[in-house]
Amino acid sequence: MTRSEKFFISVEGVDGAGKSSHIPTIAKALSSLGFEVVETREPGGTPLGEQLRELMLNTPMTPKTETMLMFALRAQHVEEVIIPALERGAVVVCDRFSDSSWAYQGGGKNVHPDILTELEKIAHPDIRPGLTLLFDVPPEVSRQRLGKTGKTPDKFESEDDGFFERVRKKYLARAAGNHRIKVIDATRSIEEIADETKRIISEHVQKFQMAKPACRAGHKP
Ligand code: TYD
Repeated sequence: MTRSEKFFISVEGVDGAGKSSHIPTIAKALSSLGFEVVETREPGGTPLGEQLRELMLNTPMTPKTETMLMFALRAQHVEEVIIPALERGAVVVCDRFSDSSWAYQGGGKNVHPDILTELEKIAHPDIRPGLTLLFDVPPEVSRQRLGKTGKTPDKFESEDDGFFERVRKKYLARAAGNHRIKVIDATRSIEEIADETKRIISEHVQKFQMAKPACRAGHKP
């Protein structure tokens, strides 16, 4: 059975939700509490993943191929970076993880849940995040923010509002059924969002600081 790892924190949201701006706040909050923090991201996070990131973000492929590649890179990321960091007691803050595949490939591109379930079992059979921060905005806000960056949109950012709506709906449906996922209203000011983020992190950390040291140990093969 998949084990929730309290030291493993993922950060999720539709493109333009602003999650990347808040990851430094999360990392800083954890470092100031004395934790070693490993910041990483998907697709990417390993030499292989970073090499293929550009391909994942810009090369057209079928939804099924895209899903399998996302999980193949995730398997490498979990073994090469995430598990070793958790084993030495670090906190891992991961910019996107499997919830992105559920939302984008499952929700956005209608990949069947059975495929996602199977690939999860293969890529990370023993581990999943203990806390997920979901930065939530409606498609119109996401679109507006992406427009302001001036960057050339990648293939996901070039999708229409219907796609973003499906992605968001899937994220929210997952959050509704799972305490692990905390939804943060990311339409508010940066300060308000940062305050709520820090509060969630500190509550989460308090929970696991009270736990016995054995619960802090990392992945067991
Ligand atoms: P993102 O993390 O938003 O990076 P940036 O801010 O640099 O654009 O972009 C990664 C994109 O990859 C995002 O559009 C979602 C997509 N993605 C998936 O579709 N499935 C996945 O499993 C993952 C990890 C990402």
